Amino acid sequence: MLQRLTDIAREAGEIIRSAREVERTVREKTGPRDLVTKYDLLVQEYLRRELLKLLPEAGFLGEEDENREDLSEKEWVFIVDPIDGTTNFVQGFHNSCVSIGLARRGQMEYGVVCNPYDGELYAARRGEGATLNGAPISCADKALDHSLLIFGSALYYRELVPETLRLFNAAFPLVQDIRRFGSAALDLCYLAAGKAGVFFECRLCPWDYAAGSLIAQEAGCVVTQMDGTPLDLFRKCGVLAGSPIAWQGLREVFQNQKGEIL
Ligand code: IPD
Ligand code: CA
Ligand code: CA
Repeated sequence: MLQRLTDIAREAGEIIRSAREVERTVREKTGPRDLVTKYDLLVQEYLRRELLKLLPEAGFLGEEDENREDLSEKEWVFIVDPIDGTTNFVQGFHNSCVSIGLARRGQMEYGVVCNPYDGELYAARRGEGATLNGAPISCADKALDHSLLIFGSALYYRELVPETLRLFNAAFPLVQDIRRFGSAALDLCYLAAGKAGVFFECRLCPWDYAAGSLIAQEAGCVVTQMDGTPLDLFRKCGVLAGSPIAWQGLREVFQNQKGEIL
């Protein structure tokens, strides 16, 4: 299964990498920050077809679905973001990926994330560790002040701007430095590979973190909601993730903040 998911992610990635005149295919969903292109839809349809060939009885949850199917009775569910990092894709900023998660009874079993621009493919099966292009990876082991923090701006939720900036301000003086790359799935994989120590974003959708959360966990990271509770695979939630030591450090910083942690 993992090998086949890997092949499908690479093939889907090829659609992204070879896309041309992307800006001409853009449609604004709710405004200039919320974009969809012809390629998001093409890749999603490709993934739906290939993934359901692999496991016909599975449900399919994809970001670009207009009508969501009822998944409550499904044992297996694919949770898919055809292009995570659509704004990057439109701008020609080559940090986007295909993200494929496969959950069984609400628990992630497989995750594959492929950045077609640099050929990096991250994969994990629950209980079997995480890999980058087939080689085992593991998270960093550094305290907060020696860790890069990757943050996500929760850009689709303007009401979260004050909260996001409040947490950013609290964390900034205490970490080595801050990065914002524009693909939550890849952000989680960067933690898995030890390229950064910790990540937060105040609200994400399941397809943003399904695959990446398993990859990060299998590499030794802690991945939770902002309040430390487990992620919800079927509802939007905030994400706090990192190596155990950096996750704990950031969690304490946020806990010491006044106000509500989302
Ligand atoms: C977005 C990216 C981005 C994150 C947003 C996501 P999309 O996904 O992961 O990094 O900050 O919250 O929605 O819209 O490019 O698939
Ligand atoms: Ca996404
Ligand atoms: Ca997307």
